[in-house]
Amino acid sequence: MKIAILPGDGIGTEIVAEAVKVLKVLGLNFEMETALVGGAAYEAHGHPLPDATLKLAKEADAVLFGAVGDWKYDTLDRPLRPEQAILGLRKNLGLFANFRPAICYEQLVDASSLKPELIAGLDILIIRELTGDIYFGQPRGRRTAVDGHFPGSEEAFDTMRYSRPEIERIAHVAFQAAQKRSKRVTSVDKANVLETFQFWKDVVTEVGTQYPDVALDHMYVDNAAMQLVKAPKKFDVVVTGNMFGDILSDEAAMLTGSIGMLPSASLNSSNQGLYEPSHGSAPDIAGKGIANPLATILSAAMMLRFSLNQPQAADRIEAAVKGVLSQGLRTTDIYSAGCTRVGTAQMGDAVVKALA
Ligand code: IPM
Ligand code: MG
Repeated sequence: MKIAILPGDGIGTEIVAEAVKVLKVLGLNFEMETALVGGAAYEAHGHPLPDATLKLAKEADAVLFGAVGDWKYDTLDRPLRPEQAILGLRKNLGLFANFRPAICYEQLVDASSLKPELIAGLDILIIRELTGDIYFGQPRGRRTAVDGHFPGSEEAFDTMRYSRPEIERIAHVAFQAAQKRSKRVTSVDKANVLETFQFWKDVVTEVGTQYPDVALDHMYVDNAAMQLVKAPKKFDVVVTGNMFGDILSDEAAMLTGSIGMLPSASLNSSNQGLYEPSHGSAPDIAGKGIANPLATILSAAMMLRFSLNQPQAADRIEAAVKGVLSQGLRTTDIYSAGCTRVGTAQMGDAVVKALA
């Protein structure tokens, strides 16, 4: 089994180092190979997703990814920005199904900005379509090259589009995930305004007839954003497009108190996957040794379960994470009075110790 390790930028290198520590003590036989991605790759090779990095990712059974991006790259031409690395990996590996669980750990109910009774026991699964929508439709802007030139313009646009097969396959993923949970799917759209999402709603409804055991309901995205803070526990599996999924998954993550806790998995049709924390590169705290590595460590657990067929190892990691939380260890982002504040490496070491 081969794992491509792509730490990326900002806190990415710090948190991935802790996840690698954890993977190494499991006593499993992985080959791990590290490569540059994002701004770090741009600095070294002039491109955020060098060919060698893409090749490594394609050959590997799974990719463990940190985070990419820094404000200092905001003025680069779009194809050279760090974010293009993750978008390129998603597209090139066909990682269309993005799982973003939002789970509230009982030890962390007080870390949420919502009242504890609203989020205690919260366990939502956001399934975001990841290779279509306005993210990958035809763009045009000041920095879009036409015949090698950047013509500049007083207009810019991006194109929202979905095809039937793209919607069908993500709908199947959602219904099948729901069959293993509480058998409810909420499909989030904007069918009242957008043709793309009327089509989305129609196709999801059609696919739903193949899953009579799963209850399907539809919700407009604005209402979903509101219901998520009003009564988040009413949701179970949420399926939505790339753009709405980007926004709603950050919102859902924060309900749980810390985006620093939440892993994610992006899978293709052969269960090859990219695993990354739901949070970003956090340049403001990079290099300080205070970032929370738990989302990345939990992403490594998802990797073991979904792509590497090691469910027991995944269970062990998840139990170890709960263990360190029960010991009262907290990085700054999840700290509350009476707990012990620890840094990134101390948190990683504590998980390693709990595993032993
Ligand atoms: C995410 C991020 C990415 C996205 C960025 C970094 C391109 O926000 O994974 O949610 O928009 O998909
Ligand atoms: Mg996002």
